[in-house]
Amino acid sequence: MELELQYVDPRLVELYDIENTRGGDTDFYLGLAADLAARTILDLGCGTGLLTRELATDDRVVIGVDPSAAMLAYARRQPGAERVQWIEGDSGALGTPEADLLVMTGNVAQVFLDDAVWAATLRDIHAALRPGGYLAFESRNPEDRGWERWNREATYEQSDSPFGPMESWLDLASVGDGLVRFEAHNIFNATGEVLVVPSTLRFRSQAEITASLTDAGFSVEHVYGNWLRGPVTVASRVLVFVARRNGD
Ligand SMILES: C[S@@+](CC[C@H](N)C(=O)[O-])C[C@H]1O[C@@H](n2cnc3c(N)ncnc32)[C@H](O)[C@@H]1O
Repeated sequence: MELELQYVDPRLVELYDIENTRGGDTDFYLGLAADLAARTILDLGCGTGLLTRELATDDRVVIGVDPSAAMLAYARRQPGAERVQWIEGDSGALGTPEADLLVMTGNVAQVFLDDAVWAATLRDIHAALRPGGYLAFESRNPEDRGWERWNREATYEQSDSPFGPMESWLDLASVGDGLVRFEAHNIFNATGEVLVVPSTLRFRSQAEITASLTDAGFSVEHVYGNWLRGPVTVASRVLVFVARRNGD
């Protein structure tokens, strides 16, 4: 499985966690897990495990799954990591633990560029949940056209990082067929090293995601347009899906 450089380079992994701090998404997923009284929880594409570790209270079994060895190595070093079972792999590694809830956070759903791979991932998730178990995830809303903000002018930053002063920005490369290609530029000022990280994300509409969930044997219970469980509007940055595995 080919992973993008941002999930492979240990420096970029450390920067990921500094740039992606706890937020409304964290509270949303923690609240949902509590509301559902979920006891066995899977976090697919758990990355550095910020949410995974918070989910892992004494009364729960929490399993974080991610194909990136570098992200998992970082996750395992964090406080509370010992309460989580970490598995290196993709959805094929989920098995059949009869989970109550599976989450995919940080727009993991958008890494599945190909519809056949997305469908196969949903089938694996279906098999990993108990009948009546829940799948919750978000995906950026294509109607918001967030990629139009992914340019140097809007994203340029100078920052102090564990690797010294840095400059970083995004540059949009192309948009078409539901795929958005862009480059993350990183300059490490101390050495002058320039690291350009190409990335591609798939933007699916609410209707496309709903249809894929239905095909995979889920019923969509809610689609929210923000982390406070508000409705979807054209200005919503994210589409937050809560779906239930059929068959209970
Ligand atoms: C943007 S990060 C999100 C990490 C974490 N869930 C969060 O909220 O911070 C995307 C994650 O998806 C993982 N990933 C990439 N390809 C994947 C795949 N095929 N299946 C599952 N996870 C994948 C990456 O390794 C990375 O950790």
